[in-house]
Amino acid sequence: MKKIVLAYSGGLDTSVCVPWLKENYDAEIVTMTVDIGQIDDLAVIQKKAEDLGVLNHYSIDARQEFCEGYIFPCIRANGLYQNKYPLGTALSRPLIATKLVDIAKKEGAVAVAHGSTGKGNDQVRFEVTIKGLDPSLEIIAPIREWNLTRDQELDYAQKNNIVLGKSSEYSIDENLWGRSIEGGKLEDLMYEPSEEVFQLVTPLTKTSDNEEEISLSFVEGIPKRLNGVEMGPVDLILEMNRKLGAHGIGIIDHIEDRLVGIKSREVYECPAAIGIIEAHKELEKLVLTRRELSFKQRIEEEWAWLVYSGLWLEPLRYDLEAFIALTQKKVDGEVKMKLYKGNLRVSGRSSPSSLYDYAMATYEASSTFDQTSSSGFVELWGLGSRTAFRALQRGEGEKNEK
Ligand code: ARG
Repeated sequence: MKKIVLAYSGGLDTSVCVPWLKENYDAEIVTMTVDIGQIDDLAVIQKKAEDLGVLNHYSIDARQEFCEGYIFPCIRANGLYQNKYPLGTALSRPLIATKLVDIAKKEGAVAVAHGSTGKGNDQVRFEVTIKGLDPSLEIIAPIREWNLTRDQELDYAQKNNIVLGKSSEYSIDENLWGRSIEGGKLEDLMYEPSEEVFQLVTPLTKTSDNEEEISLSFVEGIPKRLNGVEMGPVDLILEMNRKLGAHGIGIIDHIEDRLVGIKSREVYECPAAIGIIEAHKELEKLVLTRRELSFKQRIEEEWAWLVYSGLWLEPLRYDLEAFIALTQKKVDGEVKMKLYKGNLRVSGRSSPSSLYDYAMATYEASSTFDQTSSSGFVELWGLGSRTAFRALQRGEGEKNEK
């Protein structure tokens, strides 16, 4: 019998996919869950898959790989789609797609399946990567083909004796880099998400009345030490999520443009991502020139767009990252941040590659900056604009005389 490998999260959507695939494709199902730092218990998911009668189940711990191959490039690119979203879900899809293809090879499967709908970005991210890695694999998207409402799905689940965990009215995706929450009451754009929606961020009414200062140290644009203690990336990100989340930091609530043309309301909690990117940006401002910074911003926007829109394997991403890698050679040093009641504020920074020259910048008498050369600079700096402005004024004057 032919085999299909399904990317399985243990949730309602991917659970109903198992009997549906069996019914419709007359195939054996192999499931795969990739651990990228979601809160779920992998043993429970494995048990669920086995209860659904799958031929084989794989649990893959890819947390370190997710950090090094996906989150690190995002940090170095200050990756924020539409200046807000740190791309947690978007980054995970090409990794999961890669694992699907690996397991399909190992199992000799003819097809792979995922639980994305036809309205979102995830279908694009999964399928572009899968097709790129192995064009011979058939891709099945049961939820998209089937087009069921949530109630119909629940009904089907019941008929197939699928045991459902605590089901949420929201569609939630989570990993180390954050939680993405959509749907349900959030579809009313004026509805404020209630406290129970959040798991990483403490409500402001319950956060500490004492501020906390933390320090984050980077080596070549990668965070390596938290409060002076060297940590692996998984632990560092978990600890940043915990610390910032405890101070109520990390919630994003915005309107996002999906790839398929839909505007949607997206709620995220991503304390670590927000804190690490903020610190990284601050350090870059200290060590990169003004020209490097402004050019890099354009690169960053393009990078985030490629990743958001499912083009992880696009060669341009590698090209952009080659530029970014050059800039990151200088991004070493420490950033201090104050955390208090939902607010994160950079309070200090230092770097061996610092371009800050105290002797130049100081207002004290010891300054080495020669102010006499500034008058000539001002003269020439504004020359073109001043000339054009006066010409404009003359034109206006002549018009008024007529
Ligand atoms: N809008 C985000 C993105 O496209 C989050 C998607 C979340 N997915 C989900 N199943 N809730 O990356």
